[in-house]
Amino acid sequence: MTDMHHPSSTPAFLEVDDLTVRFPTRDGVVQAVTGLSYKVELGKTLGIVGESGSGKSVSSLAVMGLHDLERTDITGSIKVEGQEVVGLSENRMRKLRGNAVSMIFQDPLTALHPFFTIGDQIVEGYKAHHSGVSKKTARAKAVEMLERVGIPQPNRRVDDYPHQFSGGMRQRAMIAMSLVNDPKLIIADEPTTALDVTVQAQILDLLQELQRDFGSAIVIITHDLGVVAEMADEVLVMYGGRCVEHGGGKEVLTHPEMPYTAGLLSSVPDLVGDPRERLHPIPGTPPSLLSPPRGCAFNPRCGYTHLVPGEMCTRELPPLESGGRGSAHLKRCHLTDSGTVLAEQLPVYAGTAMDPGEPAGPTAEPDPTPKENAGE
Ligand SMILES: Nc1ncnc2c1ncn2[C@@H]1O[C@H](COP(=O)(O)OP(=O)(O)OP(=O)(O)O)[C@@H](O)[C@H]1O
Ligand SMILES: [Mg+2]
Repeated sequence: MTDMHHPSSTPAFLEVDDLTVRFPTRDGVVQAVTGLSYKVELGKTLGIVGESGSGKSVSSLAVMGLHDLERTDITGSIKVEGQEVVGLSENRMRKLRGNAVSMIFQDPLTALHPFFTIGDQIVEGYKAHHSGVSKKTARAKAVEMLERVGIPQPNRRVDDYPHQFSGGMRQRAMIAMSLVNDPKLIIADEPTTALDVTVQAQILDLLQELQRDFGSAIVIITHDLGVVAEMADEVLVMYGGRCVEHGGGKEVLTHPEMPYTAGLLSSVPDLVGDPRERLHPIPGTPPSLLSPPRGCAFNPRCGYTHLVPGEMCTRELPPLESGGRGSAHLKRCHLTDSGTVLAEQLPVYAGTAMDPGEPAGPTAEPDPTPKENAGE
């Protein structure tokens, strides 16, 4: 809109710039998210990963305008389709939410009301954005949505209550709810955590299919690096409320430049055998968000600080900057040439580890060898 001469400078559908979220509490200020920036274009998927408490949900709730502004300090900028969301009135935010932007929540049970039928709940969002819809049209819409997310016999199941649905079906119903108005931006917060592997795969396929059909931008938040490898064009790693690594999905997952990311990758016990295996925790505990450590927040758990001169890791916060492998791959780490150091110590990354879940973007070359035989 601003600069027609350079197509690359066209604003992305979602632009988060220097987002900071603070919760003042009795014990002090919780620094949940600090200086977070990212962009997502239509048709693209950003994966956000990081341990529990790293600020993944808090940052996404800010994009949705779902924080209680009486108890939350938000600074920075969040633009959806060029429109500033930070400071937007609740009324205008509600219009955006569930229309252009929609969120699939971490826990389907808390997002579904037990006393209303699945159909009624799916249609609620539709009615809110289409005034004067007849009962019949609304019901037909609910059935259509259930069909779209692969619920069998949608004509009958539309009148069920949440408890009559299995976990996988509830998750699908939630997805149906969030997609009822064909949102251009979908934020999926751990959409598959509670599900068994087969249903997980179906849900992810469904999201990818919807993205193909509607060209939506997707932000997928997950602990699961297999999910990220399969879905994400770009990966953003969060630690202690900050972005610590950001780059192309395959690039970050095969050539991490931040020791924390390398730790996440190596803590998956058999990435080769089962890329969907959940993460095992890295030794040590996540940083306090009330009084974060000085320097790099990861320094107490990092095995590489001795390689950095001048005790920089404990003294100065590393900037988020290009690590050298490409200007688009950013890391927050003082260690020079950290990508090479990490690759030497963790040779598994350079090899076939992530092959089972290579993101199948439009630029991906067709692989002549069957995936089942890879990585043996
Ligand atoms: N309303 C709140 N008041 C105070 N602290 C909060 C509030 N909401 C979240 N936090 C804190 O902010 C931090 C980030 O939380 P967030 O929910 O974003 O983590 P997460 O990365 O989504 O973790 P998980 O993987 O467990 O979902 C946590 O330490 C959490 O306790
Ligand atoms: Mg969360």
